[in-house]
Amino acid sequence: MAMRLDKFLSHMGYGTRNEVKTLIKNGWVTIDGQTIKKADHQVKEDQIVYVDDTPVSYIQYEYYLLNKPAGYLSAVEDAFYPTVMELIDSQRNDLYPVGRLDLDTEGLLLICNDGHLSHDLLSPKRHVTKKYYVEFAGALPENAVEIFDQPMEFEDFTSKPAKLEILEPQKAYLSISEGKFHQVKRMFAKVGCEVTYLKRVGFGPLKLGDLEAGNSRPLTQEEIDMLKKAVMNKES
Ligand code: URA
Repeated sequence: MAMRLDKFLSHMGYGTRNEVKTLIKNGWVTIDGQTIKKADHQVKEDQIVYVDDTPVSYIQYEYYLLNKPAGYLSAVEDAFYPTVMELIDSQRNDLYPVGRLDLDTEGLLLICNDGHLSHDLLSPKRHVTKKYYVEFAGALPENAVEIFDQPMEFEDFTSKPAKLEILEPQKAYLSISEGKFHQVKRMFAKVGCEVTYLKRVGFGPLKLGDLEAGNSRPLTQEEIDMLKKAVMNKES
């Protein structure tokens, strides 16, 4: 498969489309020993592009696991808040967060450029489990585990059975299989509790582990394979 030269270089972190166009026009880019000055030149898969004599190998997909700190927006860019993309150690311009965590929520956020996989991970049909550590104010009803395990009615959706694991009177894990707006906070509000701290610790087969808030790391090949497996054959 071929790709435009400006797109290729921009994806690989050499700047915006306009910046790489200038780079190309000024004669910094060679392919097979020939200087290429056209931004729309089609790069073939087996060709090696050089920028100022440095070979640029094209990596199609990149996957990062971020421990999102509070105060960062799950978006690619924003006029007011810092975004999660500022915490990813990659210059490429085609990465984005898979789904969203609230501004004040911390924890596991997958960042990648694999549109097919992120679509599948977010699809309501795939029931990918998200596990949250929750601190809350108020007292849970005695039968809270059963209540969360039953469908809860909201204005815009009915929740699927969720698994509540109570750790202490005001600390718990909640595992849900949808990802509706403010879902965990709304589910706790249903039983009269207010979430005071929320952190996602699991997303499908991925675990946050001891990654510090604000840090990110590339996924291992094993994790990528597990993610792909988790969304395979889960249509219903
Ligand atoms: N549920 C919430 O209420 N907030 C989040 O950020 C994620 C799940």
